[in-house]
Amino acid sequence: MNLKIALLPGDGIGPEIVGEAVRVLDAVAGKFGHKFAYDKALVGACAIDATGDPYPEATHRICSESDVVLFGAIGDPRYDNDPAAKVRPEQGLLRMRKALGLYANIRPLAVFDSLAHRSPLKTEIVRGADFVCVRELTGGIYFGRPQGRSEDGNTAYDTCVYTREEIERVLRLAFDLAASRRKKLTVVDKANVIATSRLWRQIAKEMEPSYGEIEVEYMFVDNAAMQIIQRPSHFDVIVTENLFGDILTDEASVISGSLGMLPSASVGARVALFEPIHGSYPQAAGRNIANPMATILSAAMLLEHVGLKTEGRAVRESVDLAIREGVVTEDIANPGEKSFGTTEVGSFIAGKI
Ligand code: IPM
Ligand code: MG
Repeated sequence: MNLKIALLPGDGIGPEIVGEAVRVLDAVAGKFGHKFAYDKALVGACAIDATGDPYPEATHRICSESDVVLFGAIGDPRYDNDPAAKVRPEQGLLRMRKALGLYANIRPLAVFDSLAHRSPLKTEIVRGADFVCVRELTGGIYFGRPQGRSEDGNTAYDTCVYTREEIERVLRLAFDLAASRRKKLTVVDKANVIATSRLWRQIAKEMEPSYGEIEVEYMFVDNAAMQIIQRPSHFDVIVTENLFGDILTDEASVISGSLGMLPSASVGARVALFEPIHGSYPQAAGRNIANPMATILSAAMLLEHVGLKTEGRAVRESVDLAIREGVVTEDIANPGEKSFGTTEVGSFIAGKI
């Protein structure tokens, strides 16, 4: 297969972890006889530094003309600590999602048996947890207008807006995903208080009959926040709006023991984007200590997305092997045991393809 892959390493550890994922992708191309062509582009703080814009037109063009995008991370302490900054790296990410029509963010949460003991939750609670969060990504309060401040600066407002079309398409994706898994769907909302949630719930109920084999449950977001860590193995597919999904997926990430292990896919109109769920971890940048596994597993999702299932599995098996043999970075190494650098972990996994 010929594949055009846009590479957006971004900030902080982004370039290092994307570099290792590319090494693994190259090993896949070599072994299975594919041709992957890469096109690199700027996004985030590094794009602001170079062009003044966190998502420059040139980057959008490269993404639009590619089959898939592999994304590292964005964010820089220079902006986090400056609430008055006019341009922020995060704006680039939001504009990119909107411009590429990436309306669903898919975050699988599975616990590697050999890492279950690293979770801050009790091992017996997290063992066997295996669910997927589907987060709506281009609507809701993130994008609703008006948004801003009153003239005197003492009142601020955001607007949460959802249309039937926006809700239906992401629910459809979640129902289909549940159909391909254990056939359970949890719709998370706050329908007891907010109007957009009531529309979500109404539409989900309308869709239920056409997915007869799926068991659907409705859960308020505050309750869901509790259930996800109290009994994570209860869930199969969770679907929710943008802001709730942002919060719940960070919460869910602690179940697995390390943020450095979790991949994600953002899908929608045409081009799909794959990225680790962790941030740019600026303190680790350039030190060869960042865990590349979340990005490498994102590359596995990328391969599966374009239909290369065997190749995706080969990547996952190599990651498993690295974990079993202890070729891991310090965040997941057992206390007192040797840990490896970003590049060593990447070479090991690429070498096992
Ligand atoms: C995420 C991040 C982003 C979001 C930030 C960086 C804008 O937290 O991808 O979950 O809130 O969507
Ligand atoms: Mg987030």
